[in-house]
Amino acid sequence: MKNSLTLRRPDDMHLHLRDGAMLAAVAPESARDFARAIIMPNLVPPVATMAQAQAYRARIMAALPKGAQFEPLMTLYLTETTDPADVEAAHLSGLVKAVKLYPAGATTNSHGGVRNFDKVMPVLEKMAEIGLPLCTHGEVTTPEVDIFDREAVFIDTVLDPLRRRLPQLRVVMEHITTEEGVAYAAQGANLGANLAATITTHHLILNRNHLLVGGIKPHYYCLPVAKREKHRLALRRAATSGHAAYFLGTDSAPHSDALKEHACGCAGCFTATNTMPLLAHVFEEDGALDRLEAFTSLNGAAFYRLPPNEARISLVKSAQATVFPPKIQSEAGPVTVFDPGFAVHWRVQP
Ligand code: NCD
Ligand code: ZN
Repeated sequence: MKNSLTLRRPDDMHLHLRDGAMLAAVAPESARDFARAIIMPNLVPPVATMAQAQAYRARIMAALPKGAQFEPLMTLYLTETTDPADVEAAHLSGLVKAVKLYPAGATTNSHGGVRNFDKVMPVLEKMAEIGLPLCTHGEVTTPEVDIFDREAVFIDTVLDPLRRRLPQLRVVMEHITTEEGVAYAAQGANLGANLAATITTHHLILNRNHLLVGGIKPHYYCLPVAKREKHRLALRRAATSGHAAYFLGTDSAPHSDALKEHACGCAGCFTATNTMPLLAHVFEEDGALDRLEAFTSLNGAAFYRLPPNEARISLVKSAQATVFPPKIQSEAGPVTVFDPGFAVHWRVQP
C-alpha cells in the first residue's frame, strides 16, 4: 500500500474565485496546491471583455499571498453582444484561454448568458479559426425540462447540433454529471482531439441521496445538481481511467454560509481547500492512484496546449484522519469547506 505520492503540481481547470472580500479569502486556498486555474467569469457584472479580464486578473494577483506560484488563466463570458475582434485580441495577447458559455438562467449570475445561438455564431466561428476553446455549462434551462435531465437534453439539443455546425470548434464540457456526458465526451474525443470534459471533486463523491436523504444538505447543493448513483460511478470510471478526454475542474464555488443555509440557497460546493486529499482518497479506493496525475496535472494542460507544470507536490497518508478546517473566514462571512462525509487520511505536504 502506498503512503506517499508525488505528482506534478495540479491545475484546476474550472474555478470560481469571486471578487472583493471573497476573492481575498479564497485565492490563497487554491494557490496553496494548484499551479494554474481556469477562472470563471460569472461576476456581477460578468467578465465579458478583454479589458475586464485584464482588470480582474490584476485583482486576483493582488489577492495572492506573497511568493505564491499561481497563474490565473482567464476566460471571457460569452454574451450575445461579444465582439469577435475583442475575443481574438484577448487570445492573441495570451491573457484569455477560453470563452464560457452559460445558457441564460442556468446558474449563479447567468442572466447575461446566451439565448439565441445565431447571435454568437460569428464569435464561435472566430474561436474555431484560432483554436480558442469554448467551455460550456451544459444544461438547458427551459422550465419543462426536469432538472435531473438538463445535461442529457443539452447534449442532444444544443451541444451536438453546435458541434455539427462547427466541427472545428474546441469544446470543454464543464462539470459533467451523467453517464451520457461521460459517453459523449469519450466519443467526441476519439473522433478528434477537439472535445474534453471536466469533472469536479464533489461529483465523484456525491449522489442525489447525499443531498436529500435524512434532511436537505445545503452545502451539497451545486449546479449541475448531483445525480443518481449510476452516474456518479460513471464519473468515477471516467476520471480514474486516465483517458485524455477527462480532467479536473473543481468548480469550487464559494458562497457565504448565510447564502447557502437559506430558504433559497445558492448553488456551489467549496472544495479548493481539500480537493487533492479527497481525490487521492477516491483514486486509491478505485485502485487508480497511478492515474491521479493524468487527471489533475496532465490531461487538462494538454487540452489547453500548455506545458505541464515542472514543480511537484507530495501527498502523504497517515493512520490518523486528516483534519480540514470546517470553514474559512472571509469579510463576506464564513464559507463551509466541503465535507465528504467520510474520513480522509491523505494530506498535502506543506
Ligand atoms: C457556480 C457559482 O456559484 O458560481 N455554482 C455551482 O453550483 N457550480 C456556478 C456554476 O458553475 O454553475
Ligand atoms: Zn462553475
